[in-house]
Amino acid sequence: VKKVLSGIQPSGKLTLGNYIGAIKNYVKLQHENDCYFMVVDLHAVTVAQEPAALREQSESVAALYIAAGIDPAHANVFMQSHVPQHAELGWLMTTLTSMGELERMTQFKDKSSGKDSVGAGLFVYPALMAADILIYNADLVPVGEDQKQHLELTRDLAGRFNHRYGEFFTIPEPFIPEVGARIMSLDDGSKKMSKSSPNPGSFIALLDPPDVIRKKISRATTDSGSEVRYDPSTKPEVSNLMVIYAECAGMTLQQVADRYEGQMYGGFKKDLAGAVVAMLEPLQEKYHEIRSSGTITDILAEGAAKARIVAAETLTGVKERMGFLPYR
Ligand code: AQP
Repeated sequence: VKKVLSGIQPSGKLTLGNYIGAIKNYVKLQHENDCYFMVVDLHAVTVAQEPAALREQSESVAALYIAAGIDPAHANVFMQSHVPQHAELGWLMTTLTSMGELERMTQFKDKSSGKDSVGAGLFVYPALMAADILIYNADLVPVGEDQKQHLELTRDLAGRFNHRYGEFFTIPEPFIPEVGARIMSLDDGSKKMSKSSPNPGSFIALLDPPDVIRKKISRATTDSGSEVRYDPSTKPEVSNLMVIYAECAGMTLQQVADRYEGQMYGGFKKDLAGAVVAMLEPLQEKYHEIRSSGTITDILAEGAAKARIVAAETLTGVKERMGFLPYR
């Protein structure tokens, strides 16, 4: 049995990218492993969040986890901020991290570029992410491609700690899907689909109504050609739509390519919208059931209670090794 950990920020409406790159794999991994799936609210506040929206989005992400098929009887589902040990280990990890390492993070460069004022939290975020993973001694971290660099840093920090204070942390491995690790934006095939994009036409939110999904797909950017063919370097937008189709319809890319060979974009896009809607409709139905049932608070309380036990034990071990005076 492996320990699996991952999390998603409640920083907007979850997108198909979050589902295909991350949540889908959480669901697959939950049965054979010891899983911790968090809503990483402490990460979300690295950019300003309106309090009421943060509360709503936090509960919404937790409900989406369950609606997507995560079973709280198999996996611990909880809020990062309900396990205060994350923040404490996060600080200790920050002290092990160099400025140069953080400066090299491409996500920081992307998210800070062009901004007048950039929060220090955004800069040190990868150290907190390392703490999130290491506090459970996770073996496996299911993430999309964009998180690969942060995971590399986590591995380096775990190794550095072990080297300095003696073998303690498990060095975690990323679990990145072969297809769908980087779903691109609908309006620009060179940008990742992102929940905090200011243009709602660039992403499909998991809770978008069917008519909105159809409209967004029909307006999605394609190239000036007309042929449905998978070639990410010359046809990035169409290739991205083919990946989404394959992932939503449960097909391989080859099967999608064979089915639409020689066909035009119009028919393909219509079928794609049908496949996305067919996948999301039952998820949305379940989501609304869960939200109205009022069970999320209990699920989160139970998940956090279990997580705190493991996290507290790790933190005690870390502090002991680092030389902190124990207290009673
Ligand atoms: N476009 C994507 N394709 C595949 N996987 C993706 N993920 C995000 N976007 C895509 C994966 O979803 C998980 C949660 O991500 P996060 O909430 O930590 O934030 P992020 O990686 O910065 O994703 P977003 O949606 O773009 O959020 P914002 O806009 O708030 O920054 C991760 O496993 C991520 O890889």
